[in-house]
Amino acid sequence: MIFLLLLASLGLVSAACPRDTLKSITAEYLLSLSNGTPTFASLSPTNLTYLENDQPIAITSSVLSKGPVKVDFSRSLYDTTLCASYTEIVATAGHAYVIGTRLSIDPSTLKVTKIDSVVCDDGDWLFNAAGSLRYNKQENWDPIPEAKRDTREVIQAAGDAYINAWGDKSINPPFDAKCARLEGGSYLTGNCKLTFSPPFVLLNKRYTIDEEIGAVDIFHNFPFLDKAIARDPGTQTNNMLRVEGGKIKYIHENTVCQKKGCAK
Ligand SMILES: *[C@@H]1O[C@H](CO)[C@@H](O)[C@H](O)[C@H]1NC(C)=O
Repeated sequence: MIFLLLLASLGLVSAACPRDTLKSITAEYLLSLSNGTPTFASLSPTNLTYLENDQPIAITSSVLSKGPVKVDFSRSLYDTTLCASYTEIVATAGHAYVIGTRLSIDPSTLKVTKIDSVVCDDGDWLFNAAGSLRYNKQENWDPIPEAKRDTREVIQAAGDAYINAWGDKSINPPFDAKCARLEGGSYLTGNCKLTFSPPFVLLNKRYTIDEEIGAVDIFHNFPFLDKAIARDPGTQTNNMLRVEGGKIKYIHENTVCQKKGCAK
């Protein structure tokens, strides 16, 4: 696998997973969520790990089986190197949700073998689905013209700098002057730098990187937010960044409160 990734990075073999395949598998997932049916054709029938808010559960007890979710808006990243997609979903009608889902696909069978989903609803960190919908829709995440695309290393480095700077003031993430952060349903522009007192340990990072959209998503743990649980590993969170010319333009964060209302 490492050998293949090396060859792929040298351009000697085609991408592990075609973008169109990732798109159609992700569309199956979205359809299944909108229908409230916890299965779809590309789901591995024999080898599936499903994690919701970092807890392993059966997909039949997941958000996919709690009834149809009326999806008002979604945006996806496709990682043809890691064979994964990440999708953010906003639903404002009925049961309101903001959901972030990473699908991990086995490149040899093209079946989904792992799903990581952060499912935010009422009582989660700054949760406000109407705000999420309004601010998210007005941003521009169009594909970056080919000649202007950053490498996946540059995109990942921007994402790492953003989250690693929280506990290390010496790191200066490459923020665009108009950087904007959508956190739950609240929107802040012009200053994306955050710092917290060390030690600040971020664990369990899972990346999805899309060079065409210029974006990286990182699932990880966030210490201390939720007083009801141990500081480490802390709560499940997720940060998705748009990077243009090496600079961080937009940040979207979804964070779950294990104990509802930790944001209040
Ligand atoms: C199940 O999928 C994982 C990847 O998510 C893979 O590493 C593992 O080998 C698979 N197991 C079987 C029995 O196919």
